[in-house]
Amino acid sequence: MKTNKQTIIKILTVVGARPNFMKIAPFVRAVKKFNESAKVKIKNIIVHTGQHYDIRMSDNFFKDLKIPKADIHLGVGSGTHAEQVGRTMIELEKVVKKVKPDWIVVVGDVNAICAGAIVAKKEHIKLAHIEAGLRSGDMSMPEEVNRVIADRLSDLMFAPDRISCLNLENEGVNKNKIFFVGNIMVDCLENERKKALKLSADQIAKRNFFGGIGEYEYLKQNSFALLTLHRPSNVDDKKIIKSLVDYFNDEVTKLIDLIWIMHPRTLKNLEKYDLIGKLKKNKRMVLLHPVGYHEMLKLNMDARVILTDSGGLQEESTVLGTPCLTLRDNTERPVTLKSNGAVSVLTGNKISRIRKEFKQALVLEKHPFLPELWDGRTAERIVRVIADYEMHLK
Ligand code: UD1
Repeated sequence: MKTNKQTIIKILTVVGARPNFMKIAPFVRAVKKFNESAKVKIKNIIVHTGQHYDIRMSDNFFKDLKIPKADIHLGVGSGTHAEQVGRTMIELEKVVKKVKPDWIVVVGDVNAICAGAIVAKKEHIKLAHIEAGLRSGDMSMPEEVNRVIADRLSDLMFAPDRISCLNLENEGVNKNKIFFVGNIMVDCLENERKKALKLSADQIAKRNFFGGIGEYEYLKQNSFALLTLHRPSNVDDKKIIKSLVDYFNDEVTKLIDLIWIMHPRTLKNLEKYDLIGKLKKNKRMVLLHPVGYHEMLKLNMDARVILTDSGGLQEESTVLGTPCLTLRDNTERPVTLKSNGAVSVLTGNKISRIRKEFKQALVLEKHPFLPELWDGRTAERIVRVIADYEMHLK
């Protein structure tokens, strides 16, 4: 910490991809609030690695969630994992040498955090990981690798639930480094809920519709199911993605209208495997570009069922109570599962299993569930812990 006339804690917050942005918005707000009353001041410098660069995947989130423009943009872009992590490390190292932060803060599990964590430790900078301790146990997921690396190197680990704390303890992490603070994404959800409620599903669909003959003007509360898919394990293999497309197109839309929000990776593969054409011809299949934060929240609120392989949506469904089929074999977020009182079931990507669970989910009521400390105050707790840690070092 620099002890100039006024004590200033310099933090470099590293973000890179869409799921980071809704988690960093509450952190930025909490730092601002902290600075209004505390003697110590925090200077938070935002670094965007550039992993997500489409307006719909990045800029719109900064704008909608009132996150200040990134102070530094690394422009890393797409590429293989080694390319993304490697380029981020090279560029971030230059920034760290120049800025000399007291802390690097990383959030979630995308490639930016792996690079951020390694650079922090190589440069002897203290590291904090928000959303620490999540474990799927599946090392074939790039996110799991990122999580393990970030936690292994962190000085402070902020866990969203008690299961995550236990995971860290079981890995031998010193308990003094683990802080159970709740889920920072819920801070964002609670802050933005009112704004989302003002939107309507048909208008959202109209604004983001990208072609085909899907009839979006009839979308009302409970009249549609919502689908998102982007995990390599679901969308990269032709046989797997074809079986999913056939099921959604030939079976699900016979039961209910389906809004499919298309991730760029998924769209590229659907085009490559020549699968997009038949979806565009289906009146009950509403294909959308990636939607904004409030739009997604509203679609989640209004959907009868969600089918997804996104961890963030699993958590938002927990809070909003929307029955959720998680199209994965495992989850790093067991707190969102039915077996733990919430709404999500793991179905993997085998159609027979999805079919059975989907039929059951269609008749379920919404069942909102709030795990311990998912109370909208997580970011405040995190900022307080970092500041206290610094004061004790002094
Ligand atoms: C990344 C995260 C994943 C997260 C997801 C949310 C990692 C390892 N993965 O996966 O955890 O759930 O973001 O979206 O960090 N592309 C664009 N425009 C963009 C970004 C990507 O067209 O703005 C295309 C590119 O062709 C790119 C592909 O999408 O190659 C995949 O993007 P990438 O950032 O590598 O991974 P995601 O699948 O988005």
